[in-house]
Amino acid sequence: MSTNKKIKFSNKRTWSHDLPISFLMQQGVENPGVLSLAAGLVDQKSLPAGLTKQAFDHLFADPRTAKEALQYGTTAGSLALRTLLLKHLSRLEQKSAEALGITVDNMIVTTGSQQYLSLLGEVLLDPGDICLVAAPTYFVFLGVLQGLGARIVSVETDEFGMRMDSLEATLAMLDSQGQLSRVKMIYLVSDYENPSGVSLALDRRKQVVEIARSWSREQRIFVLEDLAYRELCYDGPVVPSIRSFDTTGETVILTQTFSKSFSPGLRVGFGVAPDEVCAAIRDKKGNDDFGSTNFSQHILATALRENLYYDHVEYLRTVYREKRDCMLQAADLHFSNIPNVHWVHPRGGLYVWMTLPDGIETGFNSPLFQKAIHEDKVMYVPGELCYAVDTGRGEKEQPSIQKNHMRLTFGVQNLAGIQEGMQRLANAVKSFV
Ligand SMILES: Cc1ncc(COP(=O)(O)O)c(C=O)c1O
Repeated sequence: MSTNKKIKFSNKRTWSHDLPISFLMQQGVENPGVLSLAAGLVDQKSLPAGLTKQAFDHLFADPRTAKEALQYGTTAGSLALRTLLLKHLSRLEQKSAEALGITVDNMIVTTGSQQYLSLLGEVLLDPGDICLVAAPTYFVFLGVLQGLGARIVSVETDEFGMRMDSLEATLAMLDSQGQLSRVKMIYLVSDYENPSGVSLALDRRKQVVEIARSWSREQRIFVLEDLAYRELCYDGPVVPSIRSFDTTGETVILTQTFSKSFSPGLRVGFGVAPDEVCAAIRDKKGNDDFGSTNFSQHILATALRENLYYDHVEYLRTVYREKRDCMLQAADLHFSNIPNVHWVHPRGGLYVWMTLPDGIETGFNSPLFQKAIHEDKVMYVPGELCYAVDTGRGEKEQPSIQKNHMRLTFGVQNLAGIQEGMQRLANAVKSFV
């Protein structure tokens, strides 16, 4: 029988909100025929169904390994997988694990890198603690930070990623306000940032470690390096990670995922952190799920061990390079005659960041978004979602959240869909210029 009493949620409950991505997905469902340049899904056609079956067959050919995969695992993740991840990292860094100062004990396997980001936030941030982020940055992580009641402070960026002079100036400003002791981390998507496609320049990778160290006065300020897109590199130099400049391994926490380079359905990610942070994350994860899906970990370990993985990544790069080029060519064709429209040419990742003339807003309620979705039947991610609101400042003191950008992805559509989508989008934009 219903007692009809009010539900008294925790304070924390009110800090988490429905993700904008759910709204976008709903729009897609409610408006059939809409071509989505918004969806963050990966390319459907190249998903490794055959390779995963091969890995599965290999694993299940022996009842002993099959049963191991079907059993519970450990909180930190399969030791066999972590050993392979260590090799994987040294291959990417072109440095031995010893030179990197990383052992399997520094690694925790998580349910995607999203879980690692979230667990790390939980163990480091109290309400009011500060995380510095690039403007713009990965909006789902902004949601995680808000959900923890953290204060998010944005740092300016340019075509080489987060500006180190702005980072120093922001830390100095927080220091002058007596807030330095609340700063816990600097979050950076260093390769092919979601949403901007920009990579952090090599010299800045070294500088950010030095800056974090020099401002770590009362407490340690970590650099959280999110390398979700690291392996989706199409051209240009592959730059060493920020972590590789952390000679003592005390400052940088790194997280990576196999969602983009293999399969998001397996949802395997991992993170590398100093011992004390690892212990804290293990304790929290122990309470949450005492280990991510063991089955996925065994499949991935088999794919890595049996050399099924690296050829696939090579193939993926050719698939996405073609799609990236297709989107950039379509942008040239349809947008270059629209004045004051610019876009980033990403060297990797899944996104093209487009800037419209000042005054043309792209948000959900803007005339452009409404026309695009209802008349032109095309969808994008409004750029303003990727800028943080700083809860430490009043409404009028907010650093300006830019409203004239769009995040376009070439991940999910095929070539014809990308061309058609870009033409439709240009049509929508032209009516407002
Ligand atoms: C920058 C960034 N970090 C982390 C993630 C999380 O991915 P997953 O949890 O699937 O590993 C994503 C997903 O889109 C992302 O774009």
